[in-house]
Amino acid sequence: MPESRDRIDQTMPATYFDHNATTPLDPKVRVAMEPWLGELYGNPASLHAFGQAARDATEVAREQIAGLLGARPAELVFMASGTEANNAVLLGCSWNTSSKGHLVVSGVEHPSVWKPVLALQKSGMEVSWVNPDRQGRVDPEQVMAETREDTRLVCLMLANNEVGTLQPVEKVAGSCQERGIPVLCDAVQAIGKVPVNVADLKVDYLSVGAHKFNGPLGAAALWVRGGAIFEPLLKGGSQERQRRAGTVNVPAVVGFGEAAKVAAEELEVRSRRVLELRQRFESGLERIADSTVHGRLAERLPNTSHIALLGADSESLLIRLDLAGFAVSSGSACSSGTVEPSRTLLAMGAPREEASCSLRISFGPRNTIEEVDAFLDVLAREVAELRRLSSVPQS
Ligand SMILES: Cc1ncc(COP(=O)(O)O)c(C=O)c1O
Repeated sequence: MPESRDRIDQTMPATYFDHNATTPLDPKVRVAMEPWLGELYGNPASLHAFGQAARDATEVAREQIAGLLGARPAELVFMASGTEANNAVLLGCSWNTSSKGHLVVSGVEHPSVWKPVLALQKSGMEVSWVNPDRQGRVDPEQVMAETREDTRLVCLMLANNEVGTLQPVEKVAGSCQERGIPVLCDAVQAIGKVPVNVADLKVDYLSVGAHKFNGPLGAAALWVRGGAIFEPLLKGGSQERQRRAGTVNVPAVVGFGEAAKVAAEELEVRSRRVLELRQRFESGLERIADSTVHGRLAERLPNTSHIALLGADSESLLIRLDLAGFAVSSGSACSSGTVEPSRTLLAMGAPREEASCSLRISFGPRNTIEEVDAFLDVLAREVAELRRLSSVPQS
């Protein structure tokens, strides 16, 4: 087996168009983290100077992240991933302690929401799923129509990770607030790409992860509105004001804070830049026959383009593009050895054939127009080749 570094050097694609999966570490973030990977160390829970220095560093990060979200620092709970933040709300809090309970959940949620919801359903919770329209947008009235006396929680993400559709969270959360129903908003994909202010959103829980906006892996947070029900999922030490046991990952949290600071400063420039790339790509795509952009008419994340290329199976296309030097995502999930088309696309009412011929291209601010143009040429060539092969009768 080659060392992972050799493997990357040999096979690293030249162009990375998969920024919704993860993003490269910002150089400023790396600089901020470096001391905490070497000369500086300490457990923030320790009372001595080493510990207090680590604690100070994590509190600076908390303020930086709160600044990006318009939140109060004390309302943020550091966690290891967006997945953990969503699970903490769904599985940490006892939504189903009484005999009856009900959840309203959008049909476009990330697996880190819908899988815990399925677990709750198995243990007796009733769930109403609300599918989006053909553009991927969930109708706020439909969500509210599903709420009942015993609805414990509504789950609606801010931006879908696959199609990038922005959801009407503010509207739903405003109505839920009037009825006293808490809302979990998975904002992992939205933060750092579009402006987010927790006070405006009126939600009760909001998850955010550093690695989606040029911060490190292994750092995320759950914002919990003051006074909202919260019980820790991880039990043990009294870290994070008893809300999340486990020693805080100091270097990652320091990087998370710096990434939030940089994102707040650069958000506008970054969004303009990625939107320019996406527009270039989507107008160039018109020259490929039988291609469509999912959610084209909806408000979307500026960096995300999820497309269907009829007759070109997405797994085969992804491999061909990788070999040609472009990293994109197929948006489908591999489960039990079979490739399942995207759950989001199916919920949007896309036919299975269309869903299995779909690709997600997610741009980053360091991508260039030249890369987009080169990609369009390669894409046109590979799609034509796949369509040719699929039309050849098999012997
Ligand atoms: C919308 C959304 N929620 C949650 C997650 C999970 O985040 P993490 O990878 O930090 O566990 C992701 C990751 O892709 C995501 O896109």
